[in-house]
Amino acid sequence: MKILVVGSGGREHVLVWKLSQSPLVAKIYCAPGNAGTAQDAENLNIPADDVMRLAKFAKENGIDLTVVGPEAPLVAGIVDEFRRQKLNVFGPTASAARLEGSKVFTKKLLRRANIPTANFAVFSRMPEAMQYLEDSEEQPLVVKADGLAAGKGVFVCANRAEARAAVKSVLQDRTFGEAGSQVVIEECLVGHEASILALVDGDTIVPLDVAQDHKRAYDHDLGPNTGGMGAYCPAPLVTPTIMDDIIRRILIPTIHTMKVEGCPFSGVLYAGIMLTANGPKVLEYNVRFGDPEAQPVLMRLRSDLAHVLLLAATGRLTELESLDWDPRPAVCVVMASEGYPGEYAKGRAITGIQDADALPDTKVFHAGTAIKHEQVVNTGGRVLGITALGDTIAEAKQNAYAAVNKIQWQGGWCRSDISDKA
Ligand code: AMP
Ligand code: GLY
Repeated sequence: MKILVVGSGGREHVLVWKLSQSPLVAKIYCAPGNAGTAQDAENLNIPADDVMRLAKFAKENGIDLTVVGPEAPLVAGIVDEFRRQKLNVFGPTASAARLEGSKVFTKKLLRRANIPTANFAVFSRMPEAMQYLEDSEEQPLVVKADGLAAGKGVFVCANRAEARAAVKSVLQDRTFGEAGSQVVIEECLVGHEASILALVDGDTIVPLDVAQDHKRAYDHDLGPNTGGMGAYCPAPLVTPTIMDDIIRRILIPTIHTMKVEGCPFSGVLYAGIMLTANGPKVLEYNVRFGDPEAQPVLMRLRSDLAHVLLLAATGRLTELESLDWDPRPAVCVVMASEGYPGEYAKGRAITGIQDADALPDTKVFHAGTAIKHEQVVNTGGRVLGITALGDTIAEAKQNAYAAVNKIQWQGGWCRSDISDKA
């Protein structure tokens, strides 16, 4: 098979790396990729959101399967275009990708299907939103821009004053442009979060082992939200009983409702779940692999990923017997640039990656990297996802941080407590 992976983050590097291990795969392209994907794939100078050029490339080069990493091209309809051109593609159509592209769509679907989630109200005008806040009790609230906002459109507000400021920023100042033409105001849930990823082919659901992300920038979950500073898998806080509950009350009714409403979902359904005192509740849906969750999850997967994703893309997941997992846990520590998640310096040299990679059961996944003058340099905020297996979570953590210590990079930093929540 010839495979095209779309995207340029750590998620795409682990996808390329894992797919390259498949005996079915002859060649992998990555568009646009990074310095890490260049090791196992040929990087293409095509942006991830240039749907027409990507489709043209796939057509002209006989690509057998395209795997789309990030949400933006999915929401923009890359899958619809590829299918129109009779190209196999793993991911949801634009109408199914609304599960990530529109929080209003998702919240309304959850309510219709009676799926547990935070209570909420939707507004498109300031006066009504302000009145609602005025009438609600003084309590923590969460304010969300409806559309895609690169992970920045969610405000967890301690009180009414903060919620007012957030609503104003979204609806009136249009900080997120059209993504803020509607706002969701919802109840603030309390509990531990878990990332539930499942492969779906429109009909059949194959849950992956559970991961836990670390969204806050600093140790002990302090500081601003980020794209994710580390993850581990499996996450013991989701017991088999809780997982059954999530499948029965959340995943199945979601996929069923999408199907009966004429937008069957295929691809990865990523449910951000809050484990509350009243059971698991949906915080959000994403329609793709999580980043950095994909790194520890796929590091543990022993099954042939190319075979599995092709079955999912072609509506044949019932042919999959089961997934084969490495029983050992995996921990991924994200190294970020100095200044991230604020402004950060770019173009700084990173060395020691080969030494880190040479450690047993360890892999350095690249995210924001490029090659400049034969040297790996940082080009993004989240730059490396250093991932290791171990016999226990504690050992996997130790192995991952041992690899972190091999990296030399001015200002590069990471959290020191990834996986401690386990
Ligand atoms: P989202 O983009 O919807 O996942 O939100 C980003 C993060 O905001 C989540 O991972 C949670 O940490 C937090 N969050 C979102 N919704 C809520 C909620 N209703 N209650 C508490 N925290 C939330
Ligand atoms: N790690 C969170 C995400 O991929 O959205």
